[in-house]
Amino acid sequence: MKMMDLRVTVNGRPRAWSIAPGELLLDVLRREGFFGVKRGCEQGECGACTVLVNGRAVNSCLMFAAQVEGCDVLTIEGLADNGKLHPIQEAFLDHGAAQCGFCTPGMILSAKALLDRNPHPTEAEVREAMAGNLCRCTGYLKPVEAVLAAAARVAEEVGP
Ligand code: FES
Ligand code: FES
Repeated sequence: MKMMDLRVTVNGRPRAWSIAPGELLLDVLRREGFFGVKRGCEQGECGACTVLVNGRAVNSCLMFAAQVEGCDVLTIEGLADNGKLHPIQEAFLDHGAAQCGFCTPGMILSAKALLDRNPHPTEAEVREAMAGNLCRCTGYLKPVEAVLAAAARVAEEVGP
């Protein structure tokens, strides 16, 4: 099969991979060991495969890997900072917002994309931002509470 080069930054580290032109971003990331990118519906419905591309939440099952040439990709593996959990991760733990955890990486990354562009979201805005992330276990109350708590924590740390 004809292969092509992909140069992409994943979790802050430049990578150079050989991919097939039609390979999905989901498949390439998992092949390279980023198993926090979950394979769910593979149809853009469940959000389990969510990653951030240049800060925007995308379903990696709907993107060709070739489309992220030159981009910054963030997966859940890259969110903690030197072993310190991101405030959204801490809030998910504190609020019991994860059960089986299958949806959790996608939820947290969707929440991160939201808080990066809107640090003071309303509950409705949180629900809208996470509407593409389906959960079979917790329902949505606890994850939404966790994101609101994380927003408040970050605002407190940053100050007025
Ligand atoms: S696996 Fe991509 S949206 Fe479900
Ligand atoms: S915690 Fe199990 S699917 Fe959401």
